[in-house]
Amino acid sequence: MHAYEVATEPLKSVDDWDDYVAARYKKGKSEEEFRNYKADANPGVTEFYRQNHANQTLDFVLAKEAEYLPLRRRKMGMWEALDYLNTLVDDSDPDTDLSQIEHLLQTSEAMRQDGQPRWMVLAGLTHDLGKVLCLYGEPQWAVVGDTFPVGCAWSSEIVFPEFFAANPDRNVPEYQTLYGIYEPSCGLDKVHMSWGHDEYIYRVTKDYLPEPAHYMLRYHSFYPAHRHGAYRHLMNQHDVKMFEWVNKFNPYDLYSKGGARPKLSEVKPYYEDLIAEFYPAELQF
Ligand SMILES: [Fe+2]
Ligand SMILES: [Fe+2]
Repeated sequence: MHAYEVATEPLKSVDDWDDYVAARYKKGKSEEEFRNYKADANPGVTEFYRQNHANQTLDFVLAKEAEYLPLRRRKMGMWEALDYLNTLVDDSDPDTDLSQIEHLLQTSEAMRQDGQPRWMVLAGLTHDLGKVLCLYGEPQWAVVGDTFPVGCAWSSEIVFPEFFAANPDRNVPEYQTLYGIYEPSCGLDKVHMSWGHDEYIYRVTKDYLPEPAHYMLRYHSFYPAHRHGAYRHLMNQHDVKMFEWVNKFNPYDLYSKGGARPKLSEVKPYYEDLIAEFYPAELQF
């Protein structure tokens, strides 16, 4: 039995959260329209954030880190991992059998067309593979969603902040101060982020990718920081510098959807070479 609440899954697909974020940051929106983030959230998305904010406690995050970060779940090659992720059935998108791979390919192909470095194209292809957590039985609220530090005060820049009223960490005074359990400017590496697909895929791939890619994978859902400038008091100088890469990554994640659907058979040789250049035949997940 889990100590946390397991409710019915509110999203038809975990990608509904990605679509909501893309709508929230649609190009050309004014700052005031950004603030009205609820206008873009359907009831499923709202319920998803209610569950996420109520259940992502420091204790929960520490338990998930201990469970997954030793990376002893399974061994997979990158293609195998992509195929495995694709077995996550997407109810909301019946007309493609590549629904999960498609977003990854659209992200990486947009980078490739812009002439971005090969490691970055590979980071694009890789960035959402942590969603295999869903296939391990994790609830949606522990896989996707905007991420935020736990063990310290929640920023008002996190969407739906009112839902933190139901989070048990609300009652731990030490976790409710600005710095909480952390030191000023301690660096994000020391900060425990709400549990999800970012941290997991960063850990799986970090030995094989250059440092800017670490930041891209590890913090791509950390919208309060990379979009709104929150949590600078926990970041060090190096984090601030490296977040330039997170910002470079984000538009490809948000805005590459809806473009031409890459034909897997056409692009596969390129990606087979790219994967072989950086990754071993099998990675420990
Ligand atoms: Fe993601
Ligand atoms: Fe993504």
